[in-house]
Amino acid sequence: MSALSKQNASIAVELTDREGATSQYQVGSLRELFDELCGELKIDGLCGGCCSCATCHVLVDGDDQHKLYPMEDDEREVLEGLLYSQSSSRLLCQCREREEGRSLSITLAPEE
Ligand code: FES
Repeated sequence: MSALSKQNASIAVELTDREGATSQYQVGSLRELFDELCGELKIDGLCGGCCSCATCHVLVDGDDQHKLYPMEDDEREVLEGLLYSQSSSRLLCQCREREEGRSLSITLAPEE
């Protein structure tokens, strides 16, 4: 039963784009959101999610940061090299949601 409920689990995401417009997404994982945003050309995702291009830079709403697993060293190193990096910065391609993180508000960071 828990496998079934996990399979059907989804994440509600409110996304604010670079023009300030908000959109709602219902996805099974943040990787799915990454793929969807690449498909909509809202992010470039140039490295395909390999943690090297930073074109998936997002800002995670302060209350929602605990819903994500902490970043690894390679993500931190990429973010440290960005002009618009903030304490709320994450690379969407590297974000993995904790089980309790079933809703999330994120903003696309300015393009570098
Ligand atoms: S897509 Fe390149 S770092 Fe995320």
